[in-house]
Amino acid sequence: MTTLSTLNKFKKDGTKFTCLTCYDAMFARMMEKAQIDTILIGDSLGMVVQGHDSTLPVTVDDMAYHTANIARSNKQALILADLPFMSYVTLPEAIANSRKLMQAGAHVIKIEGGSELCDLVTTLAQAGTPTCVHLGLTPQSVNVFGGYKVQGRGDEAGQKLLDDAKAVVNAGAALLVLECVPAALAKAVTEAVAVPVIGIGAGADTDGQVLVMHDMLGMVHGRAPRFVHDFLTDERNAEHSIEGAFALYQQSVKEGSFPKEQHQFS
Ligand code: KIV
Repeated sequence: MTTLSTLNKFKKDGTKFTCLTCYDAMFARMMEKAQIDTILIGDSLGMVVQGHDSTLPVTVDDMAYHTANIARSNKQALILADLPFMSYVTLPEAIANSRKLMQAGAHVIKIEGGSELCDLVTTLAQAGTPTCVHLGLTPQSVNVFGGYKVQGRGDEAGQKLLDDAKAVVNAGAALLVLECVPAALAKAVTEAVAVPVIGIGAGADTDGQVLVMHDMLGMVHGRAPRFVHDFLTDERNAEHSIEGAFALYQQSVKEGSFPKEQHQFS
């Protein structure tokens, strides 16, 4: 079974690892067969499962329901679950909501933000709950950003992101996710922190990669983001099967053939 110790060893050894979002039992079983290292029950379920325009309407109960589906069906992957929008504004509600997700079967709680999360990260770590801090394009802040845009461009914004990453790691964060940031910045963050860093639209130099499952199966509503590759119709997945797509993703990340330059931002 994959644990945080496994991921830390992967980072030390330079072994890349995989993460996919997942929301239900059948896909979770297929991911187990493909040996996907970690699963994220992302609040992206608001868009790909529930049909909303953003992740904002997702509730803690939604997240607990889908987390339990995965925890029952995949006993090998490390399970990360998102605390949804406005469910961790105060420490007491963050603690109560983290408890719900951990009791539903999560191993790590993912939260979006920067150094303002330090107190929460430390409190949860002391209470036996590891956190993954999501930096860069944090979809819960879409209304602050004015859209889904690349973050951390330019010296000042890049330095702020690097400082935020170091601060949350010093506070006790166990993992980081970097979304849609320049590849050079993602490399600098990955080298600067001791914990594993998972990238999405962050280039090839992070320790792990994550994609939204629907995206990597070619099920995209509108235009596919630049960082997505369709593993279902990839010719190396000869049968164009879902199991084959998961296995090809696993192989491609491990051997370093995904992501390529065309998937990254500068
Ligand atoms: O909710 C989600 O799926 C995510 C990934 C895009 C990292 O946060």
